[in-house]
Amino acid sequence: MPTYLTQIAPQRSTQYGALAEHLAPIELALSPFAERTSASELVTLGGQRYLRVTSAAPLDELVRAHAGRLAATRAWFESRDEVGGEAGPWLRPLEINAVSAWPEELVSARRYKGKTNELFTRFLCNIVRHSSAYANTLWGELRVLDPLAGGGTTLFTALSLGADAYGVEKSLEDVQGTAAFFRQFCREADIDCDEREERMKGIGRRWRFTRGTQTLVAAAGDAADAAKLLNGMKRPHLIVTDLPYGVQHNGPLLELLASALPAWEAWLEPGGAVAFSWDATRFAREQMVAHVERCCGLRVRRGGPYDAMAHAVDRVIKKRDVVVIDQANGGTRTMV
Ligand SMILES: C[S@@+](CC[C@H](N)C(=O)[O-])C[C@H]1O[C@@H](n2cnc3c(N)ncnc32)[C@H](O)[C@@H]1O
Repeated sequence: MPTYLTQIAPQRSTQYGALAEHLAPIELALSPFAERTSASELVTLGGQRYLRVTSAAPLDELVRAHAGRLAATRAWFESRDEVGGEAGPWLRPLEINAVSAWPEELVSARRYKGKTNELFTRFLCNIVRHSSAYANTLWGELRVLDPLAGGGTTLFTALSLGADAYGVEKSLEDVQGTAAFFRQFCREADIDCDEREERMKGIGRRWRFTRGTQTLVAAAGDAADAAKLLNGMKRPHLIVTDLPYGVQHNGPLLELLASALPAWEAWLEPGGAVAFSWDATRFAREQMVAHVERCCGLRVRRGGPYDAMAHAVDRVIKKRDVVVIDQANGGTRTMV
């Protein structure tokens, strides 16, 4: 049975390194690799951390097609214990098509307080796609919404993956900052992008950028008004977001979800899915799952990798968790 090693994506701190190690097997288990690979384990070789995976069949084509978009792992190698009588391990590098329509810096260049980790954001995008009916749809045909967009990490990640990106953020200043960064980024990278600023009657403003067939819309307003703020845009297939932190009591988050989840559910493309993360240090998973299922007709995915995503972020956020939600039996959508 062929054995492969995939390198854990190198990080700039041990804390982020631990995050990548934690997420790597989960991301693989919720990816096209799951059907072809069996058990994986973390190993150290030459001081580098790898995930060892075994497969009943060669993985070259799968790696070429999909590995470039994974978040928590990078290079792939076939591993042999022995070649020509000489003891290994011997590693044969596999080719990866890492096609991104945008320079890598689009996601990484901007640093600000409250930014969601880039690797984690890409991980969320990948696992929510795989959990939706669009697991096999090309990123270029998908639309991703982040209704709590902050400074736009999800939006830029979605663009890099090839999708259209829609964002809603209540802080006008943040949205203006996101639009200004993007405008400047395109100018400096000599990327031709059309920009339009639009006022949405009584509910907010938005900036719409178009480059070829790709669209980015950043709207200032409330998460529950996403469909109205993005009026004229097609329904999103995927909703990916990181809930606000620094909330002392669970009340505001419960309220936010109670008003926003039914609105997101109503606007989601049939077959779509939602993934969000939250500070679970004092907000237990069971409570979150029960609340989500009370607020809307969507189903929280359970079992295996879905129940294993909780991880430490830093000394304050000791536990961040993720729920993935889909439309069981098509959901209970209402039209908007
Ligand atoms: C954790 S931050 C998101 C950070 C973002 N992922 C990034 O990397 O920049 C959550 C965001 O939700 C926004 N927010 C909170 N309540 C909101 C609401 N009701 N509608 C829209 N945005 C809201 C906050 O202003 C904050 O920017």
